[in-house]
Amino acid sequence: MMLRVYYLLIVLLNLAAAIFCADKYSREDFPSGFVFGPGTSAYQVEGAASEDGRSPSIWDTVSYEGKMDGATGDASVDEYHNHIFVVMIMYLQQEDVKLMAETGLDAYRFSISWPRLIPNGRGLLNPKAVLYYNNLINERISHGIEAHVALYHYDHPQLIEYEYGGWLSRKIVKNFIAYADVCLRKFGDRVLHWTTLNEPNVFLLYSYDVGMLPPYRCSSPFGLNCSQGNSTSKPYLVFHHLLLAHASAVRLYRKKYQGKQLGFNGINLFVYGTFPLTNSTEDVLATQRATEFLVGFTVIHPNPVVFGDYPETVKKNAGLRLPAFTIQESKQVKGSFDYLGVNHYVSIQFKDNSASLNSEHRDYRADMAAEMIFDVDNSTFEYPIHALGMQAAQETSSFEDTSRVKYMHGYVESVLDAIRNGSNVRGYFTWSLLDAFELMGRYETCFGLYCVALSAHWYSQFLRGKPVGSDVFIQLGKHFSPLSASS
Ligand SMILES: *[C@@H]1O[C@H](CO)[C@@H](O)[C@H](O)[C@H]1NC(C)=O
Ligand SMILES: *[C@@H]1O[C@H](CO)[C@@H](O)[C@H](O)[C@H]1NC(C)=O
Ligand SMILES: *[C@@H]1O[C@H](CO)[C@@H](O)[C@H](O)[C@H]1NC(C)=O
Ligand SMILES: *[C@@H]1O[C@H](CO)[C@@H](O)[C@H](O)[C@H]1NC(C)=O
Ligand SMILES: *[C@@H]1O[C@H](CO)[C@@H](O)[C@H](O)[C@H]1NC(C)=O
Repeated sequence: MMLRVYYLLIVLLNLAAAIFCADKYSREDFPSGFVFGPGTSAYQVEGAASEDGRSPSIWDTVSYEGKMDGATGDASVDEYHNHIFVVMIMYLQQEDVKLMAETGLDAYRFSISWPRLIPNGRGLLNPKAVLYYNNLINERISHGIEAHVALYHYDHPQLIEYEYGGWLSRKIVKNFIAYADVCLRKFGDRVLHWTTLNEPNVFLLYSYDVGMLPPYRCSSPFGLNCSQGNSTSKPYLVFHHLLLAHASAVRLYRKKYQGKQLGFNGINLFVYGTFPLTNSTEDVLATQRATEFLVGFTVIHPNPVVFGDYPETVKKNAGLRLPAFTIQESKQVKGSFDYLGVNHYVSIQFKDNSASLNSEHRDYRADMAAEMIFDVDNSTFEYPIHALGMQAAQETSSFEDTSRVKYMHGYVESVLDAIRNGSNVRGYFTWSLLDAFELMGRYETCFGLYCVALSAHWYSQFLRGKPVGSDVFIQLGKHFSPLSASS
């Protein structure tokens, strides 16, 4: 099979330059077939968390425990209720689909909820869930909107977390393949873009090392408030299982479905812009190291999905804590993608921290031996670069969205420049359509285009083919927090 590698999004390091030149461009400047859409995920938009047979995911559990500041996704933006009744009440307006079609979007990125589709994690299907996702997909297709689907967005069923520790156990690979098989069989006739995993590189760090995201695993002194976990070894183990699950799902698709469904598989990664704090040799080397860990570990540089093995620096510094691929696994992981999804929100500066390698007791970050500095106050970082979206702080009122207009204008323009330079970029997904329950910011952040009217207006003008500029001059705000960048 011809390997069709393309980037859904691209890391743009020269955003700052792009922002300040207010050249006009329009949608016609993009190649035909290039798609624009919003991105969402199941738990963040579906609501109906305990209805119609859905079982809790690890995300529900921690939100009920109050770990997410009391917020939950029980109702969220209630996308579930918008679609589940469609068969019974044909005239019911599909509010969000209409909104999307009117805005001129041509693709919709969403994720399927594993605990809704297969509530026990394996075994019986939930027919209501099949109905719901069928409606959601069909409704979009009938409005000319492509469905791009992620299988996993941090939300596996709590039951398998209880049973064998979820991603800590290799058993999950088998269950994940069975779940993927159901999705491909039921929806693959209409869905052409399948992303296996969303941001596994964030999951390993935030969920299993620092313990800031579900299922909150960590050990001190690396992470503080976890009741279980081991920051030293588990992030690597979890990541290994994630990669094996990803590669197995892609293999399944290639063997069983791709020939007739003619779609594409990819994996989605969180890519940071990485810069040295100073130009000292130490910081420059630290940045290269950190790039291998945070980015190269998964994309672009020597990395598993391209080369079938982990980068050398990661292998060297993590030692035996990093599981090794067998020859068979390496073959399966190598080339296990048709496209790479790149989520890009922030840039980070790195400061050398080689001293951390002197300690025998190390976590993923100590192995990286570089300190991450999110410097929002620095002019370079006043625009945390959110590829899929930009968060406007709550205090940004509905009418003061000019910074986001400039941001989107600059970003979309940089994507255009990259395409003109020969990059094979096929789509741009903005996070998000409606405000969702955000991973880090709960409901207090505001990524939604429709949360803030001006950027929706700008995007809509652009999508309808109008030439657009960013000539809404504003004083750059300081209310952006890259750590709240969510996905
Ligand atoms: C850990 O939990 C304690 C008590 O609940 C809280 O005061 C503290 O802020 C938490 N620390 C972190 C890093 O979350
Ligand atoms: C974590 O795992 C490492 C390596 O397997 C082990 O040496 C260490 O004792 C474990 N730490 C905790 C807190 O369980
Ligand atoms: C490092 O050097 C480059 C090229 O000379 C320069 O553009 C950049 O601003 C310098 N960075 C720092 C942090 O000093
Ligand atoms: C960040 O801003 C401070 C204060 O203006 C400046 O001294 C420092 O060099 C800046 N750092 C970078 C990397 O630009
Ligand atoms: C396009 O290519 C030029 C020349 O190689 C380079 O300077 C520029 O940064 C590139 N722009 C993008 C957006 O990649």
